[in-house]
Amino acid sequence: GTPDTRTPTGAETGAAPTANGQQGAYLTTAQGARLRDTDHSLKAGPRGPVLLQDHHLREKITHFDHERIPERVVHARGTGAHGSFTSYGTAAGLTRAAFLKKDAQTPVFVRFSTVLGSRGSADTVRDTRGFATKFYTDEGTFDLVGNNIPVFFIQDAIKFPDIIHAAKPHPDREIPQAQSAHDTFWDFVSLHTEAQHHTIWNMSDRGIPRSFRTMEGFGVHTFRLINNAGETVLVKFHWKPKLGVHSLTWEEAQLICGVDPDFHRRDLYDAIEAGAYPEWELGLQVFPDTPEETFAGIDLLDPTKIVPEELAEVQPVGRLVLNRTPTNFFAETEQVAFHLGNLPPGIDVTNDPLLQGRLFSYVDTQLTRLAGPNFPQIPINRPHAPVNDMLRDGFHQQAVHAGVAPYRPNSLDGGNPFEAGDAENAFVDVPVRVAEAPKIRANPVSFDDHFSQVRLFWQSMSPVEKEHIIAAYTFELGKCYEQAIKQRQLQCLANVDPLLCEQVAAGLGMPVPEPAQPVTEVTPSPALSQMGQTWPAD
Ligand code: HEM
Repeated sequence: GTPDTRTPTGAETGAAPTANGQQGAYLTTAQGARLRDTDHSLKAGPRGPVLLQDHHLREKITHFDHERIPERVVHARGTGAHGSFTSYGTAAGLTRAAFLKKDAQTPVFVRFSTVLGSRGSADTVRDTRGFATKFYTDEGTFDLVGNNIPVFFIQDAIKFPDIIHAAKPHPDREIPQAQSAHDTFWDFVSLHTEAQHHTIWNMSDRGIPRSFRTMEGFGVHTFRLINNAGETVLVKFHWKPKLGVHSLTWEEAQLICGVDPDFHRRDLYDAIEAGAYPEWELGLQVFPDTPEETFAGIDLLDPTKIVPEELAEVQPVGRLVLNRTPTNFFAETEQVAFHLGNLPPGIDVTNDPLLQGRLFSYVDTQLTRLAGPNFPQIPINRPHAPVNDMLRDGFHQQAVHAGVAPYRPNSLDGGNPFEAGDAENAFVDVPVRVAEAPKIRANPVSFDDHFSQVRLFWQSMSPVEKEHIIAAYTFELGKCYEQAIKQRQLQCLANVDPLLCEQVAAGLGMPVPEPAQPVTEVTPSPALSQMGQTWPAD
């Protein structure tokens, strides 16, 4: 095989940075020639023009001119931290993934983010928060790319460009810079009513977290685990914060946007540097892997649906501690690249059509954002497992590969097809049956229920949380210019709950519409209330 020529760096080992550019005691050019003066350009006499031959001036300014890379197309504003994940071993019977065996310790990097704002936007706006975790496992990297809200706006990735175009600032005026309060957003969610569930979470206190340290995280999609016996289960991933779930009030969130737009970022760094390490417990909701892929009548492939915790308990499987801030924001937080296809043996994807599209999108965007196919070689993205791939060349290639035959089998570089014993520890796609069905652009019928879980969320809130939700809808819809859009959203609220609809309509001074369909009964889920989220006793 080809030797792994990638050397670990400070970012990976926790040691002081030793990257190119910070070696030796002298200031040099990028080529290592010592410099005497970096403050004066080379001129034809003290009052003369600057000479084109000044290679130091040109190198310094040219590099600076190319310092910026594109911000992420979504989740542009982020804050990262290093830490470690310790497994309890409670999932060892469900998956062969070694990092979930008892007492296994795995280094991690987490990036928290807002979704809609640009890189320089404020932290405390009303928005969904990203919660992306890179587990550097001995069997290859596992990326759990989740949010602080357990459902998503859409059911099929083909609509992702549409919802993001609707939710980002208007194309004409670039307003608002970072919030959901505008016509295109409400136009989209009132027309594509599967978005109503995610929207009510945004309008609840979950949309304005107090701290990253007090957020839950959710993998959203259903994943499939496979154990050594080849048995499978379906699971949903949950992060539970040790400090419990807490939010800002709307007034606090607005004031902080002005007074300290870096509020969440500062809070995370300050906590870690003070030794108050943030902690989360990772838990699994576990469902039998039946051909229908449903649980208690809920379609597990529909990312706009949750399974209430009262129906499927979240089983703790390990603990995450964040204990080190990045050394360099650009190198780590900005250059980190998550991908849902980064899966270790024992964890596999399902046919959720949103998940399927995400499997394509992340690497695709990173090819532009990080300029070419070799971004897995950037220090923060390097796996901690040995890498021996057959990928070669490309922009920014760092490895000096040996040998002449990057294909297998080969008879020149001693390349056997694969080492013996691979069946035990290699990634094997779970051989799930694929239905014999005609090609079709359509959703399963079960995806058509857009309101019962919105009602479930609303009915599960405490009185004060309900007040906040009414106030949020009223404020945000009040920012819309188009009456017809507000009216259509009120129609959606009528389909959810008469009281919610009446109160928001009263706040907007608009008529109360009748529900378009019968409002069905739901059993509230106390765990959905922030008050229901507490850290299990030690
Ligand atoms: C970025 C979560 C749906 C495309 C992100 C990030 C998170 C996230 C946390 C930030 C990653 C980071 O910190 O670098 C989610 C969740 C989704 C979802 C939980 C739904 C369950 C989608 C869909 C698509 C998509 C459906 C496209 C079809 C992207 C892209 C980025 C991104 C292109 C930027 C990645 C980069 O530049 O590195 N997403 N996302 N996401 N997401 Fe999603």
